[in-house]
Amino acid sequence: MFYPFLLFLLHITMASAADLRYGYYAKACPKAEFIVRDVMKKAWIREQRSAASVMRFQFHDCFVNGCDASMLLDDTPNMLGEKLSLANINSLRSYEVVDEIKEALEKACPGVVSCADIIIMASRDAVYLTGGPYWEVKLGRLDSLTASQKASDAVMPSPRSNATYLIDLFSRFNLSVKDLVALSGSHSIGKGRCFSIMFRLYNQSGTGLPDPAIDPRFREELKKLCPPDVDQNVTKGLDATPLKFDNQYFKDLVSGRGFLNSDQTLFTTPQTREFVMQYSINQELFFDDFAKGMEKMGDLQSDNPGEIRRNCRVANQHHGNTVWES
Ligand code: HEM
Ligand SMILES: *[C@@H]1O[C@H](CO)[C@@H](O)[C@H](O)[C@H]1NC(C)=O
Ligand SMILES: *[C@@H]1O[C@H](CO)[C@@H](O)[C@H](O)[C@H]1NC(C)=O
Ligand SMILES: *[C@@H]1O[C@H](CO)[C@@H](O)[C@H](O)[C@H]1NC(C)=O
Ligand SMILES: *[C@@H]1O[C@H](CO)[C@@H](O)[C@H](O)[C@H]1NC(C)=O
Repeated sequence: MFYPFLLFLLHITMASAADLRYGYYAKACPKAEFIVRDVMKKAWIREQRSAASVMRFQFHDCFVNGCDASMLLDDTPNMLGEKLSLANINSLRSYEVVDEIKEALEKACPGVVSCADIIIMASRDAVYLTGGPYWEVKLGRLDSLTASQKASDAVMPSPRSNATYLIDLFSRFNLSVKDLVALSGSHSIGKGRCFSIMFRLYNQSGTGLPDPAIDPRFREELKKLCPPDVDQNVTKGLDATPLKFDNQYFKDLVSGRGFLNSDQTLFTTPQTREFVMQYSINQELFFDDFAKGMEKMGDLQSDNPGEIRRNCRVANQHHGNTVWES
């Protein structure tokens, strides 16, 4: 008699979890944000690039069925997850940093903090650690029960994308042209592979020629780094200061030194160009708009059922007590 009542209560509690709010863990796990920052900082001291790699998770998580940590699930015999999708395979990295954060949180407050919220907190901290803006994050997300490689392939943009395509893609998530340009400024930190730029060095749009938007001297540098027979896993900074979150990325775009086609196209396309120009001369404006964009992207949610995973890589074992978000 008591048990169904408890389930009912649980249902209500978790249903309101979908309403994201500031200070969500203040009672259940008051040290949550401190713990995330602490472990993220240690990871960054160990390997500076990990800040970029972890921050990228927010994009690859939130665009695929909302911010639900679906991209952290390992494949199982019954489920092909997102880790091997086109955008993620041989490219997403630093999954172990999230594992370390989760482990520390499970020690302090078992079963309380979702992996989806870890991604949001750690991304914010990664940006701040590397010199970028700080912002408060709303929390209370649930972790997905499944993941889908197809869903990732259907939505995550290729480095070949042009600005027109990206504007349209972001608008499907209610993200504006300004959000698109500001969020692309995430490429102020981190690295990309030759694999992602071979076509623009040697055969842009099937022309047999390089992308004419690349500054000729930069093109020679890139060709040296990525000759036709290169190991395409060789990497280079996405801007001239890949360890520092600043507006150098936009200065590079203005001078034709953007690494990815999807970056440089933001300068060559009239609709996005004005924002690139502004950010290249006003770092404060970029920081403000970037933080706003990250908050908007962090609000994306699905209506799928969720849970607080105990291990970010695997869904919990279920005994008929699956919790539904809505
Ligand atoms: C606008 C569309 C976007 C496209 C087409 C795109 C594409 C890419 C590509 C191709 C790479 C390099 C992957 C590789 O060569 O292995 C990359 C790296 C990265 N992306 Fe994006 N991206 C986009 C937007 C974003 C957003 C919105 C964020 C975060 C807010 C983000 C964060 C990052 C970071 C931090 C890296 C470097 C990661 C590392 O060093 O491990 N990107 N992106
Ligand atoms: C942008 O890319 C889309 C999709 O790949 C393509 O259909 C379109 O023609 C491109 N637009 C421009 C201006 O190159
Ligand atoms: C975008 O906004 C509209 C109107 O507020 C809303 O109905 C829709 O669900 C939003 N889409 C996403 C992906 O958040
Ligand atoms: C360039 O791409 C086009 C279209 O994809 C292809 O037909 C052509 O063979 C490529 N050229 C070279 C030199 O790889
Ligand atoms: C990069 O490295 C991975 C794993 O080490 C390998 O499987 C893959 O084929 C390489 N990719 C490219 C484009 O060379």
